[in-house]
Amino acid sequence: SYPPSAMPAAAPAKGDFLACLTKSIPPRLLYARSSPAYGSIWASTVRNLKFDSDKTAKPLYIITPTEPAHIQATVACGRKHGMRVRVRSGGHDYEGLSYRSTKPETFAVVDMSLLRKVSLDGKAATAWVDSGAQLGDIYYALGKWAPKLGFPAGVCATIGVGGHFSGGGFGMMLRKHGLAVDNVVDAKVVDANGNLLDRKTMGEDYFWAIRGGGGESFGIVVSWQLKLVPVPPKVTVLQMPRSVKDGAIDLIVKWQQVAPSLPEDLMIRILAMGGTAIFEGLFLGTCKDLLPLMASRFPELGVKQGDCKEMSWVQSVAFIPMGDKATMKDLLNRTSNIRSFGKYKSDYVKDPIAKPVWEKIYAWLAKPGAGIMIMDPYGAKISAIPDRATPFPHRQGMLFNIQYVTYWSGEAAGAAPTQWSRDMYAFMEPYVTKNPRQAYVNYRDLDLGVNQVVNDISTYESGKVWGEKYFSFNFERLARIKAKVDPTDYFRNEQTIPPLFK
Ligand code: FDA
Repeated sequence: SYPPSAMPAAAPAKGDFLACLTKSIPPRLLYARSSPAYGSIWASTVRNLKFDSDKTAKPLYIITPTEPAHIQATVACGRKHGMRVRVRSGGHDYEGLSYRSTKPETFAVVDMSLLRKVSLDGKAATAWVDSGAQLGDIYYALGKWAPKLGFPAGVCATIGVGGHFSGGGFGMMLRKHGLAVDNVVDAKVVDANGNLLDRKTMGEDYFWAIRGGGGESFGIVVSWQLKLVPVPPKVTVLQMPRSVKDGAIDLIVKWQQVAPSLPEDLMIRILAMGGTAIFEGLFLGTCKDLLPLMASRFPELGVKQGDCKEMSWVQSVAFIPMGDKATMKDLLNRTSNIRSFGKYKSDYVKDPIAKPVWEKIYAWLAKPGAGIMIMDPYGAKISAIPDRATPFPHRQGMLFNIQYVTYWSGEAAGAAPTQWSRDMYAFMEPYVTKNPRQAYVNYRDLDLGVNQVVNDISTYESGKVWGEKYFSFNFERLARIKAKVDPTDYFRNEQTIPPLFK
């Protein structure tokens, strides 16, 4: 961020861009800073309130396309008149890169929220989904029209399809069905020349890159074709808090060994906070089948009949993030999420962490400004897919992912949680993956590094610093594909894949 005085004025020279747009896009879909609705449209999906501020570098224009041709025209006009575009689907980016810049810059935002159709083909068990849909739109459509089918994606209904799939996307079925993008079979994308491509016309390299190589870098994905997965008539949800006083640390020590090797139908994650660990599970089956499994594999957790909540799969996707009052209809609510100020980081763990270290971790979780740790076990399907099959490299041998979540209300309250987040991350270094220390691109963290732009191109060397953390050995291939599909680096933000030409 920078002071408002340093913000680019509504540059008259860019009027050509607007004039160009109006030849192909109805004016009611275009917002300049002077438009009365500009402020509310811009803020509509700002999820991290840190960026809902006068100090934020905002776009000159917002375009809300209702058809792919509008996106093609925006890219063509942008290229012609020197206006970069950032694309926003659900606006959940932790660093707000879909709607703001960290430095003074003129840009426009393509806001996909009006492009949100979900078209199911129940017989073929496939669906076409627009990027502006939220995950809840997919889940709701499945629950209503094809209750025997599900889709493995994120836990929160308001997450946008466009950004989530661009970074991989995982939720409570990751052990059975892998990432969201492991189940994407086709896509439509507008490239840097304004062409609308599908899997056949973009080619396999390009298609590989957009399934997890991070948002913004390769063009604007308009829609995705999904392979839907079968779900049983009943699933079982567990939510079991255990306090440190009552042995939570011993349970976590055991969990790290057990959770990644359980049968693929069972996922048990941990939310660690204060003096508590909540063991949250989804079993793709009934309580009757779950109880003997838990008794043999993880008896220490002590799961009993009364701990089981049986429901349909679609009820579980509402219940897990929103609680027992949530109904299927809540999956369609675009404002259901509490918005707060936040800072987020992530890690991957390959070797079990020793009990004395967990004791220290809980001491950290009791410090001022402490956040929570969400730990998702891997193993089974997500780890069985080869590390190079998609850009997402965190698969074989990975025990679990950690997300460090800190949030607060009111700008003034941010210092302690932000400091805690950085200190906690520093403390964890010896216990997590190394060379590179891996991180999940959908948990965007600008502390990992940002691109340097030289001669109007993001440099490979600067991108490598953060890029190898998100993509490991797949980063170089992503950069070579970027050089082919967007050699002028038109689609860029602080953490887009830089082109590698050699
Ligand atoms: P947003 O619109 O901000 O876009 C994110 C990035 O993708 C930006 O760089 C943007 O430019 C780009 N982009 C957006 N649309 C695009 C398009 N159509 N084509 C090309 N690029 C595009 N993750 C997870 O895996 N599992 C989970 O359970 C959760 N849970 C969760 C809960 C909450 C409350 C938040 C805020 C976030 C998560 N996440 C998550 C992280 C989430 O997956 C991540 O923030 C996604 O990028 C969000 O996608 P949106 O479209 O909402 O974001």
